[in-house]
Amino acid sequence: MAATPEKITLQLRKMQEVDLSEIAQIEQSGFPDPWPERSFQDCLHLGYDCRVLEQNFVIQAYGIMVVENGDAHILNLCVRSELRRKGRGRIIMDHLLDLARAGEANTMFLEVRSSNLPAIQLYESMGFSQIGVRRGYYPGSEGGEDAIVMALHLFS
Ligand SMILES: CC(C)(COP(=O)(O)OP(=O)(O)OC[C@H]1O[C@@H](n2cnc3c(N)ncnc32)[C@H](O)[C@@H]1OP(=O)(O)O)[C@@H](O)C(=O)NCCC(=O)NCCS
Repeated sequence: MAATPEKITLQLRKMQEVDLSEIAQIEQSGFPDPWPERSFQDCLHLGYDCRVLEQNFVIQAYGIMVVENGDAHILNLCVRSELRRKGRGRIIMDHLLDLARAGEANTMFLEVRSSNLPAIQLYESMGFSQIGVRRGYYPGSEGGEDAIVMALHLFS
């Protein structure tokens, strides 16, 4: 079967400094407590795994992971709001899982707002399960919002 034009032009690549203003804009519409551009810069400088999914020179989604002492931690994942539910979040996560395995991480961890059902469903569909709760982890009114801590064993 012939590939669709969309599949031909979707490209996964390393994030670069030049991407950061575009990423900061996507981040603003992705989260109630968006990272400032400086946080992305720090991740690049620290050598974390920072990846973007691009189509026709437009960044569609990005993900950031760090692998340390045999553990992989997802620090950020976001898809442009108008392009959600088209498989891009899964593409980035699959790629980060491959990188984590290549980096010999045993377990991948992440935190997600307890109200963030799209993200929780994505992670559960990929095999993550809840291992804990951090009460009031995300600042906000009425004592903040809980973070669900999720994990996936990478070699079973
Ligand atoms: C969470 C997020 C990254 C998902 O990206 P996405 O590209 O929309 O997700 P995908 O299209 O790859 O969906 C993969 C699976 O996730 C689940 N999912 C995604 N969006 C969902 C939604 N709105 N409702 C229910 N399930 C959803 C489904 O299981 C879906 O599989 P399916 O479409 O075959 O049913 C995206 O919603 C986003 O960027 N949100 C804002 C930022 C954010 O919350 N990041 C995560 C922080 S922990």
